[in-house]
Amino acid sequence: MGFDDIRVAIGKGRILSQLKPRWIDAEFPWPLESDSAKLWFAASQSGPGAIIVRGQDVATLVARGVADLGVVGTDLLVERGLNDVLQVADLDVAACRVVLAGTRSTRPDGPFLVASKYQNITRDFLNRNHLQADIVPMGGSLELAPVIGLAPYIVDIVDTGVTLRQHHLVEIETIMHSHACLIANPAHWRAKPEVVAIRDQLIRGLDGMNQAGGLAR
Ligand code: PRP
Repeated sequence: MGFDDIRVAIGKGRILSQLKPRWIDAEFPWPLESDSAKLWFAASQSGPGAIIVRGQDVATLVARGVADLGVVGTDLLVERGLNDVLQVADLDVAACRVVLAGTRSTRPDGPFLVASKYQNITRDFLNRNHLQADIVPMGGSLELAPVIGLAPYIVDIVDTGVTLRQHHLVEIETIMHSHACLIANPAHWRAKPEVVAIRDQLIRGLDGMNQAGGLAR
């Protein structure tokens, strides 16, 4: 079985850098130099090709069949909804949390402003907790929002916590845990055995992580 017809969309940044060792462990070629700015590599007999895009775009490429598989954070999947892609594996990379943060460690008393790129996750969190807030949409650099007076609170990813600390912000509470997962185009998953084979090779050794009944088999 060759893989030269298969492409995987990979989210830039944290996911891309942490996925590389697992990809190599799976014995797929990774023909990018470490400092390369190239945003794709071609598929070959021995491994799938990669398309490197912003995390927010991974599921779109997979849903439209431009990529057969995608590697994306569960934070972005929850934010976008899973209706047109299949989640086929959990991967042991890019663990982080989506948190509410601000300049003080307590929830605000009254209505407040919160900046986020996670508008759906934030809205759901506010509703569940009966909190009143206006969401200010921002695509990135969220930690700047309190510093520049845009919004005193943010909902953003925390990994090491360094970025929050550098901007004198503290966590108030965790909204969700996130990690990288593998998604598939539903039609390609059913029609191309190579797509399933790539999933199997990528999760070798991760048995405990992928026994949840909800994942496609
Ligand atoms: C995320 C997040 C924070 C940072 C947190 O940004 O938005 O800025 O990582 O990580 P830390 O807790 O280890 O400091 P990312 O670099 O993923 O890009 P983004 O700004 O596009 O979200």
